[in-house]
Amino acid sequence: MPVIKYVQADGRAFEVDVPLGSSVMQGAVDNLIDGIAAECGGACSCATCEVHVDEAWMKIVGEACDIESDMLSASSGLRSNRRLSCQIEITPELDGLVVAIPAL
Ligand code: FES
Repeated sequence: MPVIKYVQADGRAFEVDVPLGSSVMQGAVDNLIDGIAAECGGACSCATCEVHVDEAWMKIVGEACDIESDMLSASSGLRSNRRLSCQIEITPELDGLVVAIPAL
């Protein structure tokens, strides 16, 4: 099972096992990691699951699709590594992925 590392705004970091086929958002919610509200439950319609993907992982994770980009553009911030964590599916290649959770 891939291990995902979540780093919170205050520097606390949590490494958790997340099942294949799940999402980075679901991994955070299932492990009670603060900072990812996921109000829409993963439907790509709330943008309360934003993370900043570690730059070293951006090529593997990939860019946001058009719908996700529209959601992200509605919220503030110019970082190119912004993603909605509900839209990042867990694959074997993501073992060791590091994401930062922005401050609320
Ligand atoms: Fe709502 Fe990701 S959980 S956009």
